[in-house]
Amino acid sequence: MTALTIRVASEILLGEDLGRERAAQFHEWMHIAGIEFEFSPSTVRLNWLPQRISPEFKQAAEGIRNLSEEIIEQRRAKLATTDEDQPPRDMLALLLRAEADPAVTYPETQIRDEVATFLIAGHETTALSLTYTLGLLARSPAIRDRVRTEADSALGTEQPRYDHLTDLSYTRRVYREGLRLYPPVWAVFRQASEKVKLGDYVVEKGSAVILPQWSVHRDKRYFDDPRKFDPSRWERRSPNAVSAYFPFSTGPHSCIGSQFALSGATLSLARLTQEFDIEVVAQELRNLRPTPTLRPVKGVMTTIEPLS
Ligand code: HEM
Repeated sequence: MTALTIRVASEILLGEDLGRERAAQFHEWMHIAGIEFEFSPSTVRLNWLPQRISPEFKQAAEGIRNLSEEIIEQRRAKLATTDEDQPPRDMLALLLRAEADPAVTYPETQIRDEVATFLIAGHETTALSLTYTLGLLARSPAIRDRVRTEADSALGTEQPRYDHLTDLSYTRRVYREGLRLYPPVWAVFRQASEKVKLGDYVVEKGSAVILPQWSVHRDKRYFDDPRKFDPSRWERRSPNAVSAYFPFSTGPHSCIGSQFALSGATLSLARLTQEFDIEVVAQELRNLRPTPTLRPVKGVMTTIEPLS
C-alpha cells in the first residue's frame, strides 16, 4: 500500500512516478522518522519533539531532503522542454512556474520543503487507511461483496478515474468507516496560546491539548455500537455534520489533502476489491503503535489472491 500511495502522490503532485525502488527507500526513511517521534504517555511534554536526535533520523531526514532536491531538478529540466501552450498542472510544476513571476519570492528552501511535506503527509496516512480498511473488509464478507458489486458496475474494466466516484458512494462510505475505526492520525496536538474555556473546562495558556481521534471515534456517546464496522451509519448521518468524526482534523490546519485522499483511496479500494481476494486475520489489526501515525507494529500479514 505504501508503494502504491507514494507512486500515486508523486505522479499526481510532483509530475513523476518515483518508481518502486525510490518508493521503498522513502518508506524506509519514513519508518525511521516515525519511530523518532513515537508518543509515550509517560513523556507527554509540550514540546514533544525528541530531546535527542538519533544518527539514523539525521540520515533519513538528509535522504528525504536530497531526494526532494533531485525531484525538483528533474522536474525543472523536463519543464524546460515542454510545450508552453500545454502547461502541466501538477503541484510542483505550478510552484516552479510561479518562481518566474517577479512578484513571487520564495525563501531558499521553500519548494524543497513543500515537496518533502507533500510526500511525507501525502502517502503514509493513505497507505495505512487502505491497509486497515482492506483488513476490515476481509472480516466482513457481505460488505466486501457489496463493494465488489459496486466496483464492477462503476469501473468495469476501465482505468479508475475521478468521474467514477459518483458511482462509488457505498465504497466511499466503507472507506469513511475505516477511517473512523482506524484513524491513521490517531491524535492531533495543540498548545493553548491563551487561556480559553472549552465547555466545562478551562485550558490555561501554554497547556497541551490532545484531541485523540482513536478514542473519540470509538466513544458510544457519539457513535451507536462504536466498535462495529458499519458503513451504513454514514447513510443516516453526514460525516461533515458529526464533529466527533475528524480523521482529517479540523480548523485552519486541517488536512489540505483530504479530498485527494478520499478520492484516491476510494478508487483504489474499489479496484483492489474488484481484482483480489484479500485475507487478513483479526489478530493482525491489533498490535498497533502510536507514532505520529497509527502503525501496525509488524506490518499486516495478508494473503492476496487475484480473482480470475
Ligand atoms: C487518509 C489520509 C490522510 C489523513 C488521515 C490525513 C490526516 C491529517 C491530519 C489529521 C492533519 C492535521 C494535523 C494537525 O492538525 O496537527 C493533516 C494535515 C496535513 N495533511 Fe493530511 N491526511 C491524509 C492525507 C493527506 C494527503 C493525501 C496529503 C497531500 C496530498 C496531505 C497533506 C497534508 C498537509 C500538507 C497537512 C498540513 C496542513 C497544515 O498544517 O496546514 N494529507 N492531515
